[in-house]
Amino acid sequence: MNFGYFDEQKREYVITNPKTPTSWVNYLGTSDYCLIISNNASGYSFYKSPKLGRVTRFRFNSIPMDRPGRYVYLKDEKTNDFWSISWQPVGKPLDKFLSICRHGLGYTIFESKYNSIISSLKIFVPVDKPLEIWEVKIKNDSNEKKEFSVFTYTEFCLWNSMLDMMDFQYILYTCRMGYNKEDEIIDYSIKLWSPYEPKAFFTCANKKIESFDTDRDVFIGPYNSESNPEAIKNGKCFGSIAIGGNPCAATQVKIELQPGQEEYLVFLLGIGNAYKEGREYKKIFASIDSVEKEFKKVQEYWKERLNKFECNTQDEKMNLMLNIWNQYQCHTTFNWSRSASFIEAGGRDGLGFRDSSQDILGVVHSIPQEVRRRLIELLKAQLSEGYAMHHFQPLTMSQGKHNIPPRERIYSDDHLWLLIAVPAYIKETGDFSILDEIVEYADSGSASVYDHLKQALEFSWNNRGKHGLLLGLAADWNDCINLKDGGESTWSTQLYYKALSEFIDLAEYIGKTDDVEKYKKYRDEIKRALEEFTWDGEWFVRGYLASGKKLGSKESEQSKIFLNSQSWAVFSGAFLDEKGKTAMDSVKKYLATEHGCVKNWPAYVDYIIEVGAITSFPPGLKENAAIFCHANTWVIIAEALLGRGEYAFEYYMSFLPANKNEIAEIYTAEPYVYSQFITGKEHPYYFGRARNPWLTGTATWAFTAATQYILGIRPHYNGIIIDPCIPSSWDGFEVKRIFRGKKLLIKVLNPEHVSKGVKKVIINGKEIKSNLISEALLDEENVIEVIMGL
Ligand code: GLC
Repeated sequence: MNFGYFDEQKREYVITNPKTPTSWVNYLGTSDYCLIISNNASGYSFYKSPKLGRVTRFRFNSIPMDRPGRYVYLKDEKTNDFWSISWQPVGKPLDKFLSICRHGLGYTIFESKYNSIISSLKIFVPVDKPLEIWEVKIKNDSNEKKEFSVFTYTEFCLWNSMLDMMDFQYILYTCRMGYNKEDEIIDYSIKLWSPYEPKAFFTCANKKIESFDTDRDVFIGPYNSESNPEAIKNGKCFGSIAIGGNPCAATQVKIELQPGQEEYLVFLLGIGNAYKEGREYKKIFASIDSVEKEFKKVQEYWKERLNKFECNTQDEKMNLMLNIWNQYQCHTTFNWSRSASFIEAGGRDGLGFRDSSQDILGVVHSIPQEVRRRLIELLKAQLSEGYAMHHFQPLTMSQGKHNIPPRERIYSDDHLWLLIAVPAYIKETGDFSILDEIVEYADSGSASVYDHLKQALEFSWNNRGKHGLLLGLAADWNDCINLKDGGESTWSTQLYYKALSEFIDLAEYIGKTDDVEKYKKYRDEIKRALEEFTWDGEWFVRGYLASGKKLGSKESEQSKIFLNSQSWAVFSGAFLDEKGKTAMDSVKKYLATEHGCVKNWPAYVDYIIEVGAITSFPPGLKENAAIFCHANTWVIIAEALLGRGEYAFEYYMSFLPANKNEIAEIYTAEPYVYSQFITGKEHPYYFGRARNPWLTGTATWAFTAATQYILGIRPHYNGIIIDPCIPSSWDGFEVKRIFRGKKLLIKVLNPEHVSKGVKKVIINGKEIKSNLISEALLDEENVIEVIMGL
């Protein structure tokens, strides 16, 4: 069963049945002012910080599930019947109410038809202004004249999202609402003793406001809800001014429509003073042309970001995801890290070190300059000893060193992601100058980026355990496994192997031979430890617990095999051999399902203190034997590196969101973006159900796996490698890509129907010997023909 479809032309996901099993959301806004909006117009806005700059409220994990939001109600003055343009919150019977929600790139549109009234509400955030625009159109499709009241409503949050949810004795006495009568603008201000002194405003830019409310409890009325506000029943707002209490912005505008006539209204919710910015913006957006101009800028913004990569393969869903939604999600995770969603309720802010380091991979081809800035920010959160702050807030980093983690909060993997991220940036851009940039450490001193990378390698080298594997420290990629007090992580060691290899390649390329020698020795030693202590016969163990017991071994009582230590054995480059193949065969045998590979098997059933929080989740959920999508992307890469194109593609398809559109009642989450996990096969009821959509490392890695390993177009220091690993049934594919400012049209043909192997490469009519195309061979525009074969 589906709830909507992909409109490829408009690059929208169109929800035709608003009763989606979960809120299907969109992220609007790309810099200071951002908002999340569901297919029923719920969600919240924030300015700069979702934690400290929360502008409007959302009641998380609540029932009804999806409130409050940004609502526009229409009331027919003759019949007194009222409804909302989005299906919720009024929720008219769907046999009489036609509802469509279009989630597009940077905007969301609600369309409805009820009693011959056609209406729409388009919401977007200009690229460079701190406000949201609600553009409303109402058309009378009946034969009689209609008179309406249009009511708008949104509930303000009291800026500090945590206090807003917790500390009512204080926070409820901070707001000072007002009304700028002259300009008809609601004025919202609160006073907290924080560095933020917010002010916000709400207004209708092009019509007279007949009445308003700024006190939520007056507008809604006791024992009512957003479905039936008192003011709407009353036919008029009450003019309330909240001084303390729960502030809101509610307005009433009246319109008259002749048969066939359409009216257009613009509402603004923004940051600033009602007497200054509010007034200025109201003037600007009174004209439809200015609204259109801002909207075009949003469209251009996304067009420019997404058109750096475009593929045309035999699989339409793959095209749809890679060309539109997967890239859109990558930009979203890059912009938002893991800070704000319907699940991340606000406590988190800033950047997760490992998450943000990975998030750059999916956007580096598109916004290299922004990636460079992000990398420098990340490097500033590294400490002089080499490890990194697990989580940090760039906004406050410069204010002091107060959030440097105590030693028990050092993770074994955070800093090592730099060795993936920085090389990825250089390979994409050819900008080696970043290596010489001097960047300060979070605690003391500064060093070149090159030395920062070395320091990361040194930290891990100095933090190995009894078996010579990396100590797990606070945790590794899997936050829920307890590897403290001397536990060792196979996976971190594999990441270390990969990090060393990346560094060796880089050092070799720039001629630092001493470093090459030194780190090759480290790598040999690491390989020896991996050989000796991690191979378990059919697969690799996941690590050693503090007691010395193996984790994820045939000897283990529960969870005998884990996914990451198999995929990374291969992806790291340490076991591109029979052992690697056998390990991946074990993945197929024990972990693969039709929705993707479960993270471990069999699931932990009993709580084991020594193993940690992973064992507290019921089987099939989260880190305990769910299909953790992030980890599934590495399975694709491993299979591609082994040359097994059918498997790589099969795994890719197994958890591709677009493939879940027709089983959305089972999958339940948005079929246009990746979720953190899909419930595993050992869950008694919900196998195949996705949870925690949007802010997941899956986005960046799925894009990397598909474009660099299945389609095989991989930047290299010297140019670009073309090394596809595809299903042998494919005749070929095409990719248009911008690489270092140059246009590439890559046409891959597969006449012999192989999975892997490049026989011939022709660039701009000239055959070359290798499938690494050096930058020197590239013109401004290039046609690259690649013939696959044995
Ligand atoms: C979440 C976290 C990520 C972690 C993963 C596995 O996705 O954001 O940092 O690696 O869970 O525990």
